[in-house]
Amino acid sequence: MKTKSIYVCSNCGYKSAKWIGKCNNCGTWDSFQIEETVTNKKGFSLKRLDATYTKLKEVEFNSSSRLSSGFIELNRVLGGGIMEGSLILLAGDPGIGKSTLTLQMVNNLKLSNPLYITAEESLEQIKHRALRVDNYNDELEVMAETNLEAMLEVIKNGHHKVIIVDSIQSISSDSIDASPGSYNQVRECTNALMSVAKKIRKTIFIIGHVTKEGVIAGPKMLEHMVDTVLQFEGEKNYAFRIIRALKNRYGSTNEIGIFEMGEKGLREVLNPSEIFLTNRSDEESGVANVAAIEGTRPIILEIQSLVSATSFAVPQRTANGFDNRRLQMILAVLEKRLGAKFYKNDVFLNVAGGVYLNDTSVDLSVAASLISSLNDQPINKHTVFIGEIGLTGEVRSVSHFEQRINEAVKLGFKKVIVPKNNADKLLKKSKIEIIPVEKISIALQHAFV
Ligand code: TYD
Ligand code: MG
Repeated sequence: MKTKSIYVCSNCGYKSAKWIGKCNNCGTWDSFQIEETVTNKKGFSLKRLDATYTKLKEVEFNSSSRLSSGFIELNRVLGGGIMEGSLILLAGDPGIGKSTLTLQMVNNLKLSNPLYITAEESLEQIKHRALRVDNYNDELEVMAETNLEAMLEVIKNGHHKVIIVDSIQSISSDSIDASPGSYNQVRECTNALMSVAKKIRKTIFIIGHVTKEGVIAGPKMLEHMVDTVLQFEGEKNYAFRIIRALKNRYGSTNEIGIFEMGEKGLREVLNPSEIFLTNRSDEESGVANVAAIEGTRPIILEIQSLVSATSFAVPQRTANGFDNRRLQMILAVLEKRLGAKFYKNDVFLNVAGGVYLNDTSVDLSVAASLISSLNDQPINKHTVFIGEIGLTGEVRSVSHFEQRINEAVKLGFKKVIVPKNNADKLLKKSKIEIIPVEKISIALQHAFV
């Protein structure tokens, strides 16, 4: 046996024999500060006699062991509720509302005897937050503790079924000689919590801060170790918070949940379209509505463009909430097929509300908003666009078509401009004016009337 030192990226756990400035794996700078000592066993002489196997039919499986978090938005992201005995990481920027969300959630989980362990704040601070949110539960059990072994004692012997550990970066184990938040501490603590969760079937939520600095072990490295990774995100200027699953052993990763931070904590937003649409007038150019799909849910959003004369040799193209390369492609199609002149203009595109849209059915609304801003010609605010754009300027069909149309009807829109192929397959007569188009040029003829 011999020992040696290695360097570990505190963000993703990538190992290197030498210190390096930039991680080869995740690209983080200056994250190789922690040195780990490993023992290198020569040969495998130890025999284990307790290894065993079993038939699948003998494995006990309880499919109904999910708990409701009390939030429809969170349950959907989790794949239908909180799976018992799972380890869930809730990651997000400091101050985004992780502690608030979990506190409100445990208030809803009274029957599962939740325990809220805080390693960052005092119990007074927790009480202060608890009094702000509207589902205050004075029976909630709370514990201020930073020591892993101490909390494991309570978790193992207590009656709690759901435990919150806030946060993983501020707890430490006696068995590791490193400061809280270091790679070794975070890994050891997560491992210990994982084995407790599995052995005694307790659900543990661990909160992890995402920070840009390498010194704090980032949740990236934790992703491999936990069952579910939830990301809580939002823009500083908006009260909206979006929760999404980056990894989920018990559900899909497509769903998002939307919350709004207010005076009384987080409120779930069950009809997101209503908040994403501003009360704009009909006179503003560069705005077009789209019926997009996030996960399995339709959302109507505004796409905003600003096309203005450039003062640079190479004009700027900036997209917020939309793929920049896709924007370039749409601009190229508009230039080639419609003769629109964007090459002398800077183009800024923004998806309102701080949402990132990965759905290609947004293309048509992006094109409409770009042309609207270029010509300074407003689009009727009661019109919605649905459609993907192909390189020849054709409008291609999209998935979940009826759901999108229904959402537009529900919100009182008057007209939808849609791919012809989708409209042809529509069986029922709709309560909204449907304009089927095959080419982007035709779509735009209908956009400005
Ligand atoms: P917090 O849950 O402490 O964030 P995190 O645990 O992710 O660091 O929430 C912090 C922010 O939320 C803080 O700026 C205050 C704000 N907040 C409200 O606006 N309303 C509320 O009712 C509560 C409890 C917090
Ligand atoms: Mg917190």
